[in-house]
Amino acid sequence: GKGGHRHFMAKEIFEQPQVIGDTLNAMFNPAARTITLPALPFDLAAVPRITMIACGTASLAGMVGRYWLERVARVPVDWDLASEFRYRAPVMADGGLAVFISQSGETADTLAALRYCKAHGQHCLSIVNAPESTIARESHAVLPTLAGPEIGVASTKAFTTQLVVLACLTIALAKMRGAIDHETEARLSSALTEVPARAAEVLNHDERIRAIAQSMLTPARDVLYLGRGSSYPLALEGALKLKEISYIHAEGYAAGEMKHGPIALIDESVPVVVIAPSDPLFDKTASNVQEVVARGGKVVVFSDPEGVARLRDLALDAIALPAVDPFVAPILYAIPVQQLAYHTAVDKGTDVDQPRNLAKAVTVE
Ligand code: M6R
Repeated sequence: GKGGHRHFMAKEIFEQPQVIGDTLNAMFNPAARTITLPALPFDLAAVPRITMIACGTASLAGMVGRYWLERVARVPVDWDLASEFRYRAPVMADGGLAVFISQSGETADTLAALRYCKAHGQHCLSIVNAPESTIARESHAVLPTLAGPEIGVASTKAFTTQLVVLACLTIALAKMRGAIDHETEARLSSALTEVPARAAEVLNHDERIRAIAQSMLTPARDVLYLGRGSSYPLALEGALKLKEISYIHAEGYAAGEMKHGPIALIDESVPVVVIAPSDPLFDKTASNVQEVVARGGKVVVFSDPEGVARLRDLALDAIALPAVDPFVAPILYAIPVQQLAYHTAVDKGTDVDQPRNLAKAVTVE
């Protein structure tokens, strides 16, 4: 059942504190504050390069993973959509690591990319939610997301648990490669252990987010989402979620790209959702907000108390999420983005769990 919620999507959004914790607990040792991955049939520390491949929301988890793995583990990462990767004759040196991310484990393009990588000398690791799936079976190794069944077509808890696995992979690989010391490992993994409690606090903003959805997004024809660094994939995810379930046109942009074209779209009728946790890129995003507001744009900001204090006068509305280590911010900020799309869709009266033209698992190309 829907556990008292009106839709599976709402139930699955609210399950996130629990399933994020479950996924993390499978890899985190509380006493030592270290991360341990399951035994792998290849030498992870020795991989010279990582290729991240998936579709849709899962691909955006991979995009966050790329920011983490490059910054923290100092390993080169390529990223592609499975439907592009498989047709572009990618050149791969033997012994690389290919990471496939999929809730269903049955996505046709992701599976075809996996088969290509196997045939081209890659170690194939999949992050899947369905352990008996084809992608899980055909991979050399699997890191499971423990999200439980996801029924709503819009991916929610699968996404945040994919992020948890990628964060653990990052910490473990960084440690193996000597890119971080034990202190940093302990700090990053402790930040991860705080996420379930912080995620529960985010869910308390549900009413506020519903009010913003109703007043600003429901009436809109187009919506822009902006973010920088590891918040950029969340801007893409926000736009994808909104399109998928509310049928409102939305675009996610890297905040720094605004002045290269999309700022021409800005007027009072286009709400702009800005994802801006306090991190080293905050000031840059804040000046983009200024530019948008100067052109009459109506801005909603998701930040923390410090960031909200700095943008409150500019933004039409701002939600202060709990302050967290910037490393884990993408996991936390995924949640209000889901809530915003959900409430907009409910307000518009669409079929939230079964949006038109979409299937839960895309098993055709
Ligand atoms: O089962 P998968 O994770 O491989 O599915 C990938 C995409 O089809 C999926 O994430 C899709 O984008 C979602 N419906 C978005 O909410």
